[in-house]
Amino acid sequence: MKKKEIDERAMDSALRPGQWGEYVGQEKIKENLQLIIKAAKLRGEAIDHLLFYGQAGLGKTTLATLVAKEMGAPLRVITGSSIEKPGDLAALLSGLEEGEILFVDEAHRLNPVAEEILYPAMESRRLHILIGKGTGAHAVSIDLPPFTLVAATTHFNMLSAPLRSRFGAIFRLDFYGENEIEEILKRSAKILGVEADPAGLEILARASRFTPRTANRLLKRARDYAAVNQSDEIDAAIARAVLRMLELDELGLEPVERRLLELLAYKFKKGPVGIKTLAAASGEEQGAIEEIYEPYLMKLGFLKRTPAGRVLEEAALDHLAKQEDDDFPLEQP
Ligand SMILES: Nc1ncnc2c1ncn2[C@@H]1O[C@H](COP(=O)(O)OP(=O)(O)OP(=O)(O)O)[C@@H](O)[C@H]1O
Ligand SMILES: [Mg+2]
Repeated sequence: MKKKEIDERAMDSALRPGQWGEYVGQEKIKENLQLIIKAAKLRGEAIDHLLFYGQAGLGKTTLATLVAKEMGAPLRVITGSSIEKPGDLAALLSGLEEGEILFVDEAHRLNPVAEEILYPAMESRRLHILIGKGTGAHAVSIDLPPFTLVAATTHFNMLSAPLRSRFGAIFRLDFYGENEIEEILKRSAKILGVEADPAGLEILARASRFTPRTANRLLKRARDYAAVNQSDEIDAAIARAVLRMLELDELGLEPVERRLLELLAYKFKKGPVGIKTLAAASGEEQGAIEEIYEPYLMKLGFLKRTPAGRVLEEAALDHLAKQEDDDFPLEQP
């Protein structure tokens, strides 16, 4: 690993909230989780299996680490795609300690055979495995220690229904409010030891796509920019310069997203247009449009999904018009 990568990683772990008080927003989820944890502690039991889902960078992994910390339980982290053979999962489960938390990230990437091992393991804490092959094969069933499965996914609908139904609680993480993002930025600036004035923070917050990870990333770039330009503070001018450098507009929209909006506005006359047509016209993959760009555009009120196709909203036209007056000239056909 290059030194810069190591530095970035160290920075990321320094920025990750280490206790509930530092985890900004998602109040309802925090409240519910704390209740679940408290009750489990009172009963002296492992907590129910938990599922967190929502867009990338909203704080799912962070929540899992906080749950483990609060329970005083060891946390073992795997990703759905790392389980290649059913035996891998069986070995992992039977090696768990009592009360241990198994965190399965990207749970939608678990293969179906692994899922089938998980069902009884989650439900009755038993492991059913087949030993031997052909006519000599026989099933054995092993008791597992009480453990908790915490799963996270960005693709809730890709989880099978039987898997979903085995979680004791399911939490959907939503985008953050602009004030919450500002609060996160302030905390991060303090940790990174960089000064930022309110105007600078506000600009970064507005471009953060209501997402903590994006906010922290912008802040780090702004910190770099300030350092290189011998400025000791991130002010409005620096914040704007960083966005320009990253080719982001004031709402954090990337060139491809502005291009999608333009296509919808000018070529497709605000729609409705089918997602496949939009993908073909933009040269972007349908999956990327649906999973990365659209959620934020919909959150902004720029785009609507209707049965007839995608429809552009008035607010998007206003935004496009505004950008044309600003630093971001947009081509019109
Ligand atoms: N509520 C929060 N308060 C403060 N910082 C947060 C919060 N949620 C997330 N962060 C910051 O954002 C970063 C990304 O969060 P995290 O890794 O938990 O997201 P994720 O939902 O697991 O993303 P992915 O789907 O990509 O795995 C964290 O390292 C942390 O610094
Ligand atoms: Mg994560």
